[in-house]
Amino acid sequence: MSTGAIGAAVLARARARDAADPLRGFRERFALPVDALGAPLLYLCGHSLGLQPLAARELVIEELDEWARRAVEGHEHARRPWVPYHENLRSGLALVTGARPGEVVAMNSLTVNLHLMFASFYRPAGERRRILIEAGAFSSDRHAVASQIAWHGLDPQDDLLELAPAAGADLVEERAVEALLEERGHEIALVWWPGVQFRTGQAFDIARIARAAHSHGCLAGFDLAHSVGNTPLALHDSAGDFAVWCSYKYLNGGPGAIGGCFVHERHASALPRTAHRGALPGARLAGWWGHEEDTRFLMEAEFHAADGADSWQVSNPPILAAAPLLASLALFEAAGIGRLREKSVALTAFLEELLRPLEPRVHILTPRDPAARGCQLSLRIAGGAGPGRRVFEQLREAGAICDWRTPDIIRVAPVPLYNRFEDVAQFAHRLTRVLEAGA
Ligand SMILES: Cc1ncc(COP(=O)(O)O)c(C=O)c1O
Repeated sequence: MSTGAIGAAVLARARARDAADPLRGFRERFALPVDALGAPLLYLCGHSLGLQPLAARELVIEELDEWARRAVEGHEHARRPWVPYHENLRSGLALVTGARPGEVVAMNSLTVNLHLMFASFYRPAGERRRILIEAGAFSSDRHAVASQIAWHGLDPQDDLLELAPAAGADLVEERAVEALLEERGHEIALVWWPGVQFRTGQAFDIARIARAAHSHGCLAGFDLAHSVGNTPLALHDSAGDFAVWCSYKYLNGGPGAIGGCFVHERHASALPRTAHRGALPGARLAGWWGHEEDTRFLMEAEFHAADGADSWQVSNPPILAAAPLLASLALFEAAGIGRLREKSVALTAFLEELLRPLEPRVHILTPRDPAARGCQLSLRIAGGAGPGRRVFEQLREAGAICDWRTPDIIRVAPVPLYNRFEDVAQFAHRLTRVLEAGA
């Protein structure tokens, strides 16, 4: 690369930091994307689809081989038997979510899990029937939440409360959530909030939102699509009621990978005495995979719930969509959440440092405070969506993969498992060049 725009000194600094990075070896354990001519692409898009861990291929092929060799007997006798396959994912999921092992389970995909969780935890009654979400929530969340309200015979026009940022602001502060709950908490059954906002990259204090919700008698659930594998989580201690996520972003589980959910252990027992804050104990949309495993194949009419979050499983899991996640979670376990976070904070701060001089042509929406963001920075190009989109397209032509979110946001995420400080320097260089060329 020509070093003109960012300067040789910056590049040298980036390379020195890469050389000193204790996690640098992890990059080699991923397939790095290339262009049509085989030249490496600059990939800063783990917030949308994480890269493929090389071991994922082996694990998928292993399951294909087991299927070929053993057919139905693989359920019991595969090297990793398929019936309890989700158990292989438990410790890794507990690690990346900060949950107790019994509080997490891999199943389905995000929006499906949202519906399953809401079936248990959205229980509108009398005046307390509303759901509070952020204005500008991810479309699938909004569709799902509105449809849940309608499913209960209520009107989303009245019962979906959407909290927008203050006029002229991009971000919603936690204290605005607290203030709204102060005023209308008695009408709200459930607060549904993101861990990290998909468009702005803002990370929320989950414990604080859960606390505020509970203090007004509401339940609190979280969409962790952009949090899990990105920011350290402490779901058990944060005490939210439930959460769901997908595994194809920072968890590198592959396109359409199996998702996951968390149910705080205070809810999980199927025994009637565990009622908590209005969630009906044991009320769930059930299927045979949520039945306790020991007696599942007795095929009895009565449902005996498995322990913990497992009891929310409905169907048997897609093994081929779960195997890549196993490969990726092993990398998280090997790297360690603390070291990943440390590198993530440094990488994103470096990106911010190199982009700040581009203000006011490039505005960074994401909070400056590292505690209020993960690795993603969201950029708005001066002049609106037209120039912004052109910059995005020219970055792609220059071999940099990030993504575009309507109306006018470019999202960029240096991911600590596989991105380098040099990637960050190169991105800043290419963006500077694109701007200089007058996109
Ligand atoms: C914040 C958020 N919610 C929901 C979804 C939808 O996920 P799925 O298609 O797995 O249901 C996504 C997907 O990117 C997302 O980012």
